[in-house]
Amino acid sequence: MTGVICGTGSYVPTQILDNHRLSELVETSDEWIRERTGVIRRHIATEETTVSMAAEAGRRALKDAGMDSKEVEMILVSTISSNVILPCAACEVQKILGAEHAVCFDLNAACSGFLFAYQTAQAYIAAGMYRKILVIGSESLSDLTNWKDRSTCILFGDGAGAAVLKAAKGRTFISAAHSDGNSAEALTCSSRHRRDWKDRPEEETYMQMDGRRVFQFAVKKVPEVVTELLDANQVKAEEIDYFLLHQANRRIVESAAKRMGLGIEKFPMNLQEYGNTSSASIPILMDELRRNGTLKKGQKLVLAGFGAGLSWGASLLEWQL
Ligand code: ACO
Repeated sequence: MTGVICGTGSYVPTQILDNHRLSELVETSDEWIRERTGVIRRHIATEETTVSMAAEAGRRALKDAGMDSKEVEMILVSTISSNVILPCAACEVQKILGAEHAVCFDLNAACSGFLFAYQTAQAYIAAGMYRKILVIGSESLSDLTNWKDRSTCILFGDGAGAAVLKAAKGRTFISAAHSDGNSAEALTCSSRHRRDWKDRPEEETYMQMDGRRVFQFAVKKVPEVVTELLDANQVKAEEIDYFLLHQANRRIVESAAKRMGLGIEKFPMNLQEYGNTSSASIPILMDELRRNGTLKKGQKLVLAGFGAGLSWGASLLEWQL
């Protein structure tokens, strides 16, 4: 048995923060941000929370799948920006959706989170433990952003995306995933709940990043892990219709395409509209491509995530909707 995506959904906040407005908050410019990152605007949660966005994306995905919430056997929420530490966001989503039969837990692998949650769901389905799983990536990164730090605040945005996986007969693809805790300091964010927080600089409770290091890591590891994935499944890069990469920076996506010797048209992007939404970026992109008719039954897709940890990975799937 393999997990087939039978529905997608997403939600982004209505409040928009564009580069021009941002340049009134920190010393930067629309030109600099567009050129270095590709981002033009991002959506910022005001009324919304990580949980409310996750629930709405999940509700839309279930509607798309034609599945009642009571049928859902597992809810996985990938997030680094949950409203509260306890209970987990997935249990809150369960309550909102009335998915009373689901087993629920969160997963934190930063920008690789949705991908790792998708792989986890596939493993549960392959083991025969669950047949209907709702996988969600949801982030309110604006809560973790230091709005005085121009090197990071230009990058991030808020939103949620979701996919419903259903067990079906079909080819099970081998996936690829890696972590490197030795490089953890490249991208960090301390908990405000740490016992020693009051003695530490406030900046540490926001995302801090060695941008150049993360950039170099991403442009090297993404092509490597995609090649590993394709080799393991004996699929050629030319057979892939679309590569859905984590939407961190246009230059990272362009560099990955170039290193793989593939046309950029196979690498759809929406980071210009949403910025980097961490674990929500891949499912938001997937849902947009489904809704605008880009994705067609039988197409082969590669999903690739990378981010804090450091962590990175890729999965291959055949689109069935
Ligand atoms: N506006 C204007 N100037 C700026 C800004 C800004 N917003 N930010 C930095 N600068 C300046 C710097 O001070 C520096 O000036 P200097 O040369 O006088 O010292 C200059 O611009 C160049 O800075 P760099 O950091 O070298 O710029 P770079 O081209 O590397 O771009 C960026 C920075 C966009 C952050 C890039 O490194 C990047 O995208 N890194 C990857 C980030 C990422 O993708 N993270 C993903 C994981 S996120 C997760 O897991 C939660």
